[in-house]
Amino acid sequence: MGEIDPAFIQAIEHRPKQTIVEAGGIPLIDLSLLNDPDSSDDPRALAGLVAQIGDACKNWGFFQVINHGVPSDLLRGLLTAGKFFFDLPLEEKRKVRRDEENPLGYFDTEHTKNVRDWKEVFDFMADNGTVKPASYEPADEEHHKFINQWPEYPPQLREACEEYGRNVEKLSYKLFELISMSLGLPAKRFNGFFKEQTSFIRLNHYPPCPTPELTLGVGRHKDAGALTVLAQDDVGGLDVKRKTDGEWIRVKPIPDSYIINVGDIIQVWSNDKYESAEHRVVVNSERERFSIPFFFNPSYYTIVKPIEELINDENPAKYKEYNWGMFLSTRKNSNFKKLEVENLQIHHFKITQ
Ligand code: OGA
Ligand code: NI
Repeated sequence: MGEIDPAFIQAIEHRPKQTIVEAGGIPLIDLSLLNDPDSSDDPRALAGLVAQIGDACKNWGFFQVINHGVPSDLLRGLLTAGKFFFDLPLEEKRKVRRDEENPLGYFDTEHTKNVRDWKEVFDFMADNGTVKPASYEPADEEHHKFINQWPEYPPQLREACEEYGRNVEKLSYKLFELISMSLGLPAKRFNGFFKEQTSFIRLNHYPPCPTPELTLGVGRHKDAGALTVLAQDDVGGLDVKRKTDGEWIRVKPIPDSYIINVGDIIQVWSNDKYESAEHRVVVNSERERFSIPFFFNPSYYTIVKPIEELINDENPAKYKEYNWGMFLSTRKNSNFKKLEVENLQIHHFKITQ
């Protein structure tokens, strides 16, 4: 089997235990109401759904949804096209390789918290890869270009990605409306932040790993954006850290469901009412695994800070404001290569009382 590159090896305290706690109470929410014209204007039914979403965001920061309205053949088609791509020889995949300038495309050396992940990815922007600067601050010299790179093979990948993206974006807006209402705000309170959104989609491929007890597919982390809408295949391996006891809980694959997680931006917007959940991916020695997160992110120039309506004298802002475009570019850079310093996190903006 040979030795694996030490760059993949997790510190002892972060290695996965070999016993799995499955499901462990992760909320499962039925969204059929949203797609049912008869009952979607029933205020009581809607209030019930909003309350479920609020509880899930508060207690877990993580939940699964069914009857979400995204046609299942779109995901199936994308998984098939993605597998075709990842099965290509490395030199072919590297023709669309991410580099220091452009963070989109194929990449197989991502690091999470400076340990290499056992995976390969293909990233693209949901809105067709418009070129955007890192920030709109006049003093900012670093203008990272975000450009979608499409491989020649398989030719249907691009269309499958774009169509999937359009549909999952719609679901993300609907979820955000429910989250907004659950915070006591108008449904569309957050929509303006997503006008020129920086959402991106990642095709994740986790190959079988000879040392699953030492490595992780993705090391423990929280998603930096607003909301993540993740599809996974039937292999399993995603763990979420339960808030009540810090136990790692395996998210059971449910056919035709999505996993939703609160990102750091919701944590800041809600002034810690909702917290992003820590999660990781455990790999195995037998089966490859595929997953597809949609990272729903606001526009570059968004200044992220607690929403005014949610703060007052008794509950003052817990975060200093930060520029999302700068944050994203800095994070992308630090995932590109191993660094000796901790990468940027929202707790760096926390106001200490
Ligand atoms: C991620 C992530 C989970 C998974 O890419 O940020 O957490 O199941 N992925 O692949
Ligand atoms: Ni994640």
